[in-house]
Amino acid sequence: MAIREIKPGVYYVGATDWDRRLFDELIPLPDGTSYNAYIIKGRDKTALIDTVDPTKEEILIENIRELGIKKLDYIISNHAEQDHSGTIPRILTLFPEVTLVTNKKCKGFLIDFFSIPEEKFMVIEDRERLSLGNKSLEFILAPWVHWPETMLTYLVEDRILFSCDLFGSHLANSSLLAKEDAKLLSSAKRYYAEIMMPFRNSIKGHLRKLEDIDIKLIVPSHGPIYQKPQFIIDAYKDWISDNVKNEVVLPYVSMHGSTEKMVAYLIDALIKRGIDVLPFNLTKTDIGELAIGLVDTATVIIGTPTVLTGPHPAVVGATYLANALRPKMRFASIIGSYGWGGRTTNIIAEMLSNLKVEIIEPVIIKGYPKNEDFKALDNLAETVLRKHRENNIV
Ligand code: FEO
Repeated sequence: MAIREIKPGVYYVGATDWDRRLFDELIPLPDGTSYNAYIIKGRDKTALIDTVDPTKEEILIENIRELGIKKLDYIISNHAEQDHSGTIPRILTLFPEVTLVTNKKCKGFLIDFFSIPEEKFMVIEDRERLSLGNKSLEFILAPWVHWPETMLTYLVEDRILFSCDLFGSHLANSSLLAKEDAKLLSSAKRYYAEIMMPFRNSIKGHLRKLEDIDIKLIVPSHGPIYQKPQFIIDAYKDWISDNVKNEVVLPYVSMHGSTEKMVAYLIDALIKRGIDVLPFNLTKTDIGELAIGLVDTATVIIGTPTVLTGPHPAVVGATYLANALRPKMRFASIIGSYGWGGRTTNIIAEMLSNLKVEIIEPVIIKGYPKNEDFKALDNLAETVLRKHRENNIV
């Protein structure tokens, strides 16, 4: 991405990755991503805020050259994950005089990853400031968004918050400044769901801390810059709140049609009772869409056939992911069929051990569903409705 001056002396020098479709070999990126890095030219000193993924290091180097930076005083490392730190070794080679500014924990990671010598570091504490002359940087430690060493950097005079992965979106975009619209909200929610959701409680604390800070721009490490900070702060407040929707997320797999028939019947039974349903056929769905669905649903019902003695492996993967993402859902259940036996219910229930959910009586049937099985599905839908109403989930 071309260099942009977002404020006098503050330049975007990062890189857009239009074609990347998978992150961490796990997370789908339907809209690519960007690795945002910034140069801040103060009267006396110049700082680089984060670097870029090593696959794009030439773009960062070229941008720094094009800006005519002859002397770089500081690299601020907000986060040690390699998509932001991976080009630090190259910058250290090009600017041997530079000091690497970060917190103690991040320093440890950077030494582990890149064998950077101790003497290159300046270790800062929470709320410590660093002067660049007419501009000053304040560091705000924000552990667990989404690693233990993460921090934010606030450019005091321009009221810009460099928020690291927090508030990010995997959205390659030619416009650096966000249009705060439905598309961006959807990308940011996907990002929250896939990366930030397990750290909901940590984020609550960080947002409280940010209330005392006057923020004009939020500049995340991925995706566009928020010109209306409240747009993304309010969205996060909603996602991290304890509020859930009158909704059922229904990830499922069917091998010979029995589970699919049950899923179709249950969807109608829930809709008839005024409950929204988000079904995900796990053989076809983008797992990120499932993660988004988990952000604020009240209930998850997992549909699976029995493979050997347990759930279908695709269901095992989705259940593992749901457990790891720790959504705030309140209830869970299981539906599915078997031919000659198995431990499907126990295996899935054990896999949800991170979640504080009440398990509603599963409906596991033998063979193809019959009248009594449809009645059991009606009972399940009725129980979900009752549980939602009892908990004021409307
Ligand atoms: Fe964008 Fe956690 O790195």
